[in-house]
Amino acid sequence: MRRTFLLFVTIVLSATYMFAGGSGENIQPSRGRTEGKILVAYFSWAENNDGAFTADAVSTSSLNRPGNVEDLALFITSMIESDIFSIQVENPYPANWDDCLERANNERRNGEHPALSTHIPDIDEYDIVFLGYPNWWYGIPMALYTFFEENDLSGKQIYLFCSHGTGGLARSVDQIEEALPESIISENVFDINEHQAHGGFSVIRNWLEELGFQIRQD
Ligand SMILES: Cc1cc2nc3c(=O)[nH]c(=O)nc-3n(C[C@H](O)[C@H](O)[C@H](O)COP(=O)(O)O)c2cc1C
Repeated sequence: MRRTFLLFVTIVLSATYMFAGGSGENIQPSRGRTEGKILVAYFSWAENNDGAFTADAVSTSSLNRPGNVEDLALFITSMIESDIFSIQVENPYPANWDDCLERANNERRNGEHPALSTHIPDIDEYDIVFLGYPNWWYGIPMALYTFFEENDLSGKQIYLFCSHGTGGLARSVDQIEEALPESIISENVFDINEHQAHGGFSVIRNWLEELGFQIRQD
């Protein structure tokens, strides 16, 4: 089922991505702001499921902590001085792969913005936000929209990082650009295949160096 789904996603993506262009207006060249208080905010299925997983071995790796995106976020926060924040929904997604796909797809089709159970005390404290997410149905999980509604990211420097299957970034960057027209989003977006995320420490370090960050030596 999962393979069929990913093949389907690849085909649909290749078609849609060829024709879908982002606005590109709030995208800035690779190097952006590196000075200021940093938040690493991310969404990961491993912290957003109901734990009711039972049998499907294919799903297991995505449900073990740390999740793929969670691990990338932990790498970042271990290398640069930053706070870390896990975006979590009030009503967790099913731990069963097919059921999770179905709910995520329904939310996407209906334009639902699921309520969050975690909240940042004061987003105004931060100048730079690293925002991490998995590709869900060719784009961002709908919980990110709730996060954007709750937290004004206008004027902030945003760096995106994403883990995905064969579908790559798909429409995710365009969706974020559209949702955050007043933010400054680096065009240097980090993305990594789901099977490589846990081994991604050194590629994350290279990315942070490319962006101009000093890596902590302690
Ligand atoms: C509901 C759902 C939808 C997904 N949709 C896609 C997709 O459209 N394209 C893709 O490449 N991967 C898709 N994936 C795979 C995830 O992007 C990938 O496994 C990612 O590494 C998961 O990160 P996480 O463990 O931090 O949640 C999907 C996964 C889930 C659970």
